[in-house]
Amino acid sequence: MNSVRGKWALITGATSGIGKATSDLLAKNGCNIIITGRRADKLEATHHIIEEKYGIKVLSYCFDVRNLNQCAELANDLSEREIVPDILINNAGLASGKSKIQEGLIAEWEKMIDTNIKGLLYITRCILPAMIDKNEGHVINIGSTAGHTVYPEGNVYNATKFAVKALNEAINLDLAGTNVRCCSIDPGAAETEFSVVRFHGDEEKAKKVYKGYTPLAAEDIADAILYVLQTLPHVNITNLVMYPTAQRSVYVWDKKL
Ligand SMILES: NC(=O)c1ccc[n+]([C@@H]2O[C@H](COP(=O)([O-])OP(=O)(O)OC[C@H]3O[C@@H](n4cnc5c(N)ncnc54)[C@H](OP(=O)(O)O)[C@@H]3O)[C@@H](O)[C@H]2O)c1
Repeated sequence: MNSVRGKWALITGATSGIGKATSDLLAKNGCNIIITGRRADKLEATHHIIEEKYGIKVLSYCFDVRNLNQCAELANDLSEREIVPDILINNAGLASGKSKIQEGLIAEWEKMIDTNIKGLLYITRCILPAMIDKNEGHVINIGSTAGHTVYPEGNVYNATKFAVKALNEAINLDLAGTNVRCCSIDPGAAETEFSVVRFHGDEEKAKKVYKGYTPLAAEDIADAILYVLQTLPHVNITNLVMYPTAQRSVYVWDKKL
């Protein structure tokens, strides 16, 4: 087993859902964590709870991954502290709205493209060179089953996650000759704040997405991430796709409504 104890993991989007659950699980396993997000109150709460619970080192940075300067500031600050992340988890992301392409809102498209694609690229560009210099480490990109199959009215969100799939493959190719590994973890339906964000705070609409079956929990994805991180250094799992048992594809569901 390749332990995460004593390592540094940078997790973007750790104020809720998958990022928060992953931060908690890694910290529980003795990993020091660097967490990010835009909501200062939630970030601060996660910082203090995890620090007190597990006694590991926690650094938090409140910023928007769409802002290249702020991504670079994070990398500079880590460099000044002489910290090179052993683990980079590109998790920050969102779906905004669900509509036919001919009715889509440009502002929502831009938000998804700028966060899910450009934000992931900015963070990777700022952090990966130091990991390559150190010649060890692990990049985890949170993709989605939405990046394998498109679904009606998913259009631009689907496109951003197809892009994450392509970038994950490309990063792996570009890392050839180094010891840095790269994996995309692609979940199906997981009950987090994802649908509340997608439907702009409409809790009732969001709840319906998870009705009649047991969706994945954020903790299930955190478990998968830890599994991938704990594989021995000569093992590179490049893609892990996971659905709830009641969802066999984007189209095949076993819902008891
Ligand atoms: N839930 C699902 O069904 C599902 C399935 C497949 C893939 N995913 C993917 O999993 C990842 C995590 O989503 P989740 O389900 O855990 O949803 P979530 O609970 O809404 O968490 C999303 C996280 O991303 C952060 N974030 C969003 N935009 C950001 C930005 N511009 N800058 C910095 N941080 C930002 C949010 O923090 P702030 O709001 O504080 O910035 C939050 O911490 C996303 O990439 C999503 O596409 C989710």
